[in-house]
Amino acid sequence: MTGTPTEATHANPLRDPEDRRLPRIAGPSGMVLFGVTGDLARKKVMPAIYDLANRGLLPPGFSLVGFARRDWADQDFAQIVHDSVKEHARTEFREEVWRQLAEGFRFVPGDFSDDLAFDNLRRTIEELDQARGTGGNHAFYLSIPPKFFGDVVQQLQEHGLSRQTDGSWRRVVVEKPFGHDLASARELNDSLAQVFPTGSVFRIDHYLGKETVQNILAMRFANAMFEPIWNSNYVDHVQITMAEDIGIGGRAGYYDGIGAARDVIQNHLLQLMALVAMEEPSDFRAESLRREKEKVLAAVSLPRRLDLSTARGQYDDGWSGGVRVQGFHDEEGIPKASTTETYAAIKLGIDNRRWAGVPFYLRHGKRLGRRVTEVAVVFKRAPHLPFHASATEELTQNTLVVRVQPDEGLTIRFGSKVPGTSMEIRDVTMDFAYGGSFTESSPEAYERLILDVLLGDPPLFPRHEEVELSWKILDPILEHWARQDRNGKAKPEPYPAGTWGPASADKMLARDGRTWRRP
Ligand code: BG6
Repeated sequence: MTGTPTEATHANPLRDPEDRRLPRIAGPSGMVLFGVTGDLARKKVMPAIYDLANRGLLPPGFSLVGFARRDWADQDFAQIVHDSVKEHARTEFREEVWRQLAEGFRFVPGDFSDDLAFDNLRRTIEELDQARGTGGNHAFYLSIPPKFFGDVVQQLQEHGLSRQTDGSWRRVVVEKPFGHDLASARELNDSLAQVFPTGSVFRIDHYLGKETVQNILAMRFANAMFEPIWNSNYVDHVQITMAEDIGIGGRAGYYDGIGAARDVIQNHLLQLMALVAMEEPSDFRAESLRREKEKVLAAVSLPRRLDLSTARGQYDDGWSGGVRVQGFHDEEGIPKASTTETYAAIKLGIDNRRWAGVPFYLRHGKRLGRRVTEVAVVFKRAPHLPFHASATEELTQNTLVVRVQPDEGLTIRFGSKVPGTSMEIRDVTMDFAYGGSFTESSPEAYERLILDVLLGDPPLFPRHEEVELSWKILDPILEHWARQDRNGKAKPEPYPAGTWGPASADKMLARDGRTWRRP
């Protein structure tokens, strides 16, 4: 093993960090993609690379090396990328962009224990540095199951691939799940840290790459009118919802034993919660942002009665988009006795002055009524209503909704007088929609995040402390559910596909005198 690694600084001459309006263009660099046959690589990573090239944000000599246990030549790999781009890229296909990009494609066959393959990978990268001017700067993208992360980074180290020399960089990109509990997350973090310095490890939580998620920061900290009421004096509670209409599809192997809480709440939803609840950072450097997020995650508390403040479910057969769909237990590869939850709802508190007494309700489920992700900040009622009681019968609580997807934007719901001679007040909504205010369409989260990796720009990547804090929040809940499974006391409650989840989730809110929003 070599000594403690240090991050090499790489200045991108095309980037002026003082002026964020200038396009951010990656300097000389390449990427090595492990797991090229996987869904994520095909649907997200490869198309995003093409989209970046098409937008002129990659260097002309950019290289992409595929590594997999396949008997492929460079042309076969290029064909795979071509098909994925044609099917999934966001921007139009332009022959000249494609041709230039494809000249930098190479394929290295081999498995993760194959020393010769890693030697071959090193030679390929050296050849690319010569032929394409990639300058020794390479990101290793591990789009593979986490159980292989340790082996691969070890191989990278042993074959001299992780070493950064003066003026060049090596980075590693990992996808969630970052472990399946706190202990395994620590192990994973340790195995990465033995080879790559903290600043060279990029953990992808693709929700942080979404425009609307970043807009939470813009909305809160670029405006004067939200922050004064963003606290327990005015906020009654917060609901964070990520609903999907799809089932688990062909992902039984990944999903069974993981479930909704580990798959989505541990990462995407807790990150959203941290952005909504954190204090204003002194600037938007990675350090400052992460520090504030970490403070929130460290202040999260669980209610004492986890049986009353959590809910879990499994979709049964039902309807989705007018089509009859099967239940979770009938999905291929799912054992009949599986207790993996496809729906999870949890109630959390944040023990600090700003949020004391304000519950944060987080929920995520597959095969729900429709696909929608939103953060709803529900305000307390006005302390006094100087109207006749009947005038405000239909007035509910003011709500600010950040619509993460689809229909990206922001909605504010408040009371307004109904036209007419009598005083009657009813809820109305005021809307900001991205589509209506901006002509540019939002880039895919992966475009933003891959570009940030190549630029070495880390604010949107969770640091290992955040990952560990998130597991600290989730572990007691997962243990509670596992205990219930073991003693047969309770199991995930079935809900028909196409509905809004199990009745126990509704009861959980009803106990607090609240209801879930129907987004
Ligand atoms: C992934 C989860 O992180 O996010 C999937 O593993 C989920 O289960 C996906 O379907 C949803 O992403 P998006 O961007 O479509 O909301």
